Order: sequence, then structure tokens, then C-alpha cells
Amino acid sequence: MQTNHHKILTANVHHLDQHLLSKYEERGGYQAIRKVLKQTPEEVIQEVKASGLRGRGGAGFPTGMKWGFVPKNLGKPIYLLNNADESEPGTFKDRLLMERDPHLCIEGMMIAAWALGANWSCLYIRGEYGYPAVRMEQAIEEAYKKGYLGKNIFGTTFSLDIVVHRGAGAYICGEETGLIESLEGNKGQPRLKPPFPAVVGLYGCPTVVNNTETLATLPWIILNGASAYAKIGTEKSAGTKLFSASGHINKPGVYEVDLGYSLLDFINNECGGIRGGKKLKAVIPGGSSVQVLRADELEGVKLDYESIKGAGSMLGSGGFMVMDESTDMVEACLNLQHFYSHESCGQCTPCREGANWVQKIVGRIYDGAGTYSDIPLLKSVTSQIAGHTICPFGDALVTPVLSFIEKFPEEFNTRIAQANGIPTFNTGEELSSQVLDAVSENAKNVAANV
Ligand SMILES: Cc1cc2nc3c(=O)[nH]c(=O)nc-3n(C[C@H](O)[C@H](O)[C@H](O)COP(=O)(O)O)c2cc1C
Repeated sequence: MQTNHHKILTANVHHLDQHLLSKYEERGGYQAIRKVLKQTPEEVIQEVKASGLRGRGGAGFPTGMKWGFVPKNLGKPIYLLNNADESEPGTFKDRLLMERDPHLCIEGMMIAAWALGANWSCLYIRGEYGYPAVRMEQAIEEAYKKGYLGKNIFGTTFSLDIVVHRGAGAYICGEETGLIESLEGNKGQPRLKPPFPAVVGLYGCPTVVNNTETLATLPWIILNGASAYAKIGTEKSAGTKLFSASGHINKPGVYEVDLGYSLLDFINNECGGIRGGKKLKAVIPGGSSVQVLRADELEGVKLDYESIKGAGSMLGSGGFMVMDESTDMVEACLNLQHFYSHESCGQCTPCREGANWVQKIVGRIYDGAGTYSDIPLLKSVTSQIAGHTICPFGDALVTPVLSFIEKFPEEFNTRIAQANGIPTFNTGEELSSQVLDAVSENAKNVAANV
């Protein structure tokens, strides 16, 4: 059973011809930009602020507030970058929008560009997304031919060029300053902040980086009004959100739900329940960089920023990964650490050396060669990564490993006990307390680094 939710982003994704400009327009497309061009940029920023829209790239930062940081009197061009790098494991929602409704993505960029005073914008898309990149390129070409992009759009003073830039497949290029470096032709390695991109971004100019889903929400807000959007969801988590659901569920896919929806109802209704009638074991609700939640922690949890935070995790990018009772949590943890070790950009020593080290330690526990000192060692290594790097990648790699050990200490302990010829585990409490210390230290570091 699927519950009724507002369809702000996915209303038309089931139409197989929606990628064509004529069909997009027939279904109401390019009306929001016509409306916006009759408003001042300040009015549009106010509208987006009033809507309560928060960035869908992971951090949930209020979109209108971010736009308000852009200085408009520097005499420099202002740039808008659409972040379609989407490389977080478990996250594949922006892909749906670009493949199925590319003009919605373009119209969202146009609205943001007008509000910001930008005349040049770039869609930065991960290298592996060949089909969505082609879809976007074709849609942009169509928009140029029809005069919807380029100079004096709809006979106004507004001009906008949009280009598609394909990345080479690096997760770190999704971090906004890594993205900017990459776009400038440099290695995709994040910059120190401040200065923030809103003031010093691409080529030293004011730059706004927004996620694809964030931008694609704008046409609906403009057409229906900020208050209509703010009424959907919860007080602090307005609107709808795309969740890319994967793992041991009957119906993996991308679902748009009103924020504030019950997490367990989402699994049972939209996701079709757990595959093969097995029991739910754990959920990673917001992409691989957030804390794993055990099944017994999910009662009453809602899909919104505050509720998931209250449960000890984060909404993140909405990469919703479900694990059933058959999942080996040490193996799942190792799988994630392979990713982080591979994707560390290497700029900061704690992350470059530490990511590989963490992977090695978890790897030997998984291989049955771990020792009891491996858990304190993990505590020590991770404490030297989190909060000691230029960008939040270091925190992102530490968060899952510590939460996996905290939530499933018995699985790590059993592996270590077996490796040491001890058939049963009796030091679980001791092990957990060491891990819990490491987890609370990590939480402090993450908070200090936000
Ligand atoms: C390692 C790392 C990877 C990231 N990857 C993405 C990404 O693929 N897409 C994205 O929109 N934001 C990503 N972000 C967040 C961006 O830095 C930035 O906050 C976001 O694009 C802002 O858009 P929003 O305000 O619309 O959410 C990533 C951050 C980090 C630290």
C-alpha cells in the first residue's frame, strides 16, 4: 500500500516523454520562470526563505538563507552550480530527476540564477552518470533552440547560459569546494572555509552550490507559493523529500514522501516490506556517512531532519539502506570502509593515512585475525581523523565505523573472540564502553566542525 504524499518533484516522472520540452510545457512547465521574471530577485529570495526549503544535498542548510549571503555589489560575476555529483553510497535520487524530468532541473536552475543575479550556471554531474548527462545535454540544447536559454529570455533582460560538466568519478567532488576546484581544472581537493563559496567561490567569484533536488523544488514553490510548501511536512522540515531506498526490501526505488512520515510505514508501505519475510535488522537512513540505526530504535521515528537526529542519526541525502537479519554487520562496515579508503582525496594526512588504516583494522577483524586491542586502536585512529581535516569527509568516514561497532558490538566481539580461540564472547560490555567513549568524542568533533 502506498500512502498519499504530495508529488512536487515526481508528479511527471512516469511519463516516458516528459524529457521533451513540448511535453514538459504541456504539463505546466516553464510557467514558474515566466512568473519569476516579473518579480525582483529579492522577492524570490524572500519567497524561498518563507517556504522553509532546506538543501537536499545532505546538510539541510536553509536555501534562501544561503542565497542571502551572496554579495551582489562586488562587480564580479555570480555563479550558480548545480551539484549532481551524487556519489554517496545508497543515494540515487537526483539521477531520477535528470533522466525523467530534465527540464524541471533546468527551470529550477533558471529560477535560482534569476534570484542570485547569475548569468552562467553549470551542472556538475558525476562521470558515471552517462545517460542522465546526455538527457540533460539534450534538454539544454532544446531550451537554447527555443530561446529559453541564452540572451534575453522571454523578451526580458535576463540572460543565462548553462553548461554540463562531467566529473571523472570522485566522491570528494560532491563536496562544494572540491567541486569548484575540479571545475577550475584542478585536482578535486576541498578548500579551507572560510571564505565560503557564497563570497569567494568559482574563480574567486561569489558562487552558490545547490543540490539538484533542491533546485528542482523551486518551480513548485514559485507556482504554488511559499506558504503552500511550508504547510507540507513538519514545522522545521518543510516539504517533501526524495528517498532512494535500497537493500533487503521488496521494492527498491526512489520515493517522494512528505517530511515527517513514519520511517517504519515507509519501509512497510512504499518499500513493500522486508524481502523474503525476514526480520528487519538495521537501517542507514541518510546515505553511508550517517549513523546506522538498529530495528529496535526505529519505533516512532519520522522521516524528517529533527526526528532522525533525535534517534541518533541524520537525514543526510536520503540514501535509505535497509538490512535484514541475515546481514553480517562486520562485513557491511568493511564494505563502507573500502569505499572511504578508496575515495579519500589524500590532501589531509589524518584522512589519507587513517582511512586506509581503519579499513585494514576492520578488514582483519572480518578476516578472523582481529585482536582485542583492535577496538581501542580503532578508537585512537578515528579520534585523530574526525575534526582534523579540511572537509567533513574525515567525519563522514569515522561516523559509520563507530556507529556499527556501537550498535552491534557483539558481532565484532564474536569475530575477535573466535580469532583468539574463545568460542563465546564475554567481554562485550568492556568492548562497548570503549566504543561508546569513541562515539561520544566523534559526536563532539562533528558538532565542532559543522
Ligand atoms: C564528501 C562530500 C560529498 C558530497 N557530495 C555531495 C553530492 O554528491 N551532492 C550534493 O548535492 N551535495 C554533496 N555534498 C554536500 C555539498 O558540499 C553541499 O553542501 C551541497 O551541494 C549544497 O547544496 P544544498 O544546500 O542544496 O544541499 C557533499 C559533501 C561532502 C563532504
